[in-house]
Amino acid sequence: MMAMARRSRTRRLEVACALLLFGLGCGDPYRDRLLDGLPDEDPKFRPGELHRPGQPCLACHSDYGGAPEFSLGGTIFSGSEPTETPSLLGGYTVRVYDSEGQTRDLLSNSCGNFYIRRADWDPAFPLRAELYEDNPAKPGKLIQVTVMSSRIAREGSCAGCHVGHRSPLSPGAVYVPGTTPGAPSDACPTPWLGPDPRAPVQGLK
Ligand code: HEC
Ligand code: HEC
Repeated sequence: MMAMARRSRTRRLEVACALLLFGLGCGDPYRDRLLDGLPDEDPKFRPGELHRPGQPCLACHSDYGGAPEFSLGGTIFSGSEPTETPSLLGGYTVRVYDSEGQTRDLLSNSCGNFYIRRADWDPAFPLRAELYEDNPAKPGKLIQVTVMSSRIAREGSCAGCHVGHRSPLSPGAVYVPGTTPGAPSDACPTPWLGPDPRAPVQGLK
C-alpha cells in the first residue's frame, strides 16, 4: 500500500516534469534559464532543420530538453564585424574530429544550420572543429577556411559559446571570415544573436 502510494507520487512528478519541459524545464536552474531566454518558435516555420538558427540546439535537442537528441548542432554566419548584423550561410562544412579518431562532416543548410543526431554519432569528447568550403575547381574536394584551435570539452551546442558578436567575452557566432552579410531573407527565421547580442551564453551541455 505504502509502496504503491510512493510509486504514484513519483509517477505524478515525472508527468509534471514532462509537461514543464518546454516552459519551465525541470530542476536544472542553468538550463531552465537558458530555455526561458530563447524566443518563441517563429510561427512561419515548423520545427525542423531550418528553425531557430543561432540558438543552442541542445538546450532542447537533449535528454533534458525533450526534442530528438542531437550530439552537435549549430549555425554558420557571414559577416564578422561588430557593426554588421550577421546573416545565415548555407553550403559550408563543419568537420568534427572526436578523441577516438572519428570524423564527421556536417553541411550547413539553407538557413546556416547543421546538426547530427545522437543516434547517428555519439562522439567521444573532447572534439576539434574545422570549417571548410567547396572547391569550385575540384568538386568534392573541400578547402579549409578556419579552425577552432581550442577543444570542445563537452558542450554540443556551438551556440553554447558562439553567440552574438565577437568580444573579449565571446568568440562570436561561428563566422566564415571574409564574408559580408546578405540581406535578411524571408526564407529563414530571424537568427538569434543571444539574450544580449554581445554577451556569451556559457556552459550547458
Ligand atoms: C527551444 C527548443 C529548441 C531549440 C533551441 C531547437 N529546437 Fe529543433 N526542435 C524542437 C522541437 C520541440 C522540435 C519538434 C520535435 C518533434 O516534432 O517531436 C524540433 C525539431 C527539430 C528537427 C526535426 C527533428 C525530427 O526528428 O524530425 C530538426 C532537424 C531540428 N529541430 C533542428 C534544430 C537545430 C539545428 C537547432 C539549433 C540551430 C534547433 N533545432 C534548436 C525544439 C528546439
Ligand atoms: C566551449 C566553448 C565552445 C564551443 C562549444 C564551441 N566553440 Fe568554437 N571557439 C570557441 C572559442 C573560445 C574560440 C576562439 C579561440 C579558438 O579558436 O579556440 C572558438 C573558435 C572557433 C572557430 C574559429 C573562429 C575564427 O577565429 O576564425 C571556429 C570555426 C569554431 N570555433 C567553430 C565551432 C563549431 C562549429 C562549434 C560547434 C560544433 C564550436 N566552435 C563550439 C569556443 C567554443
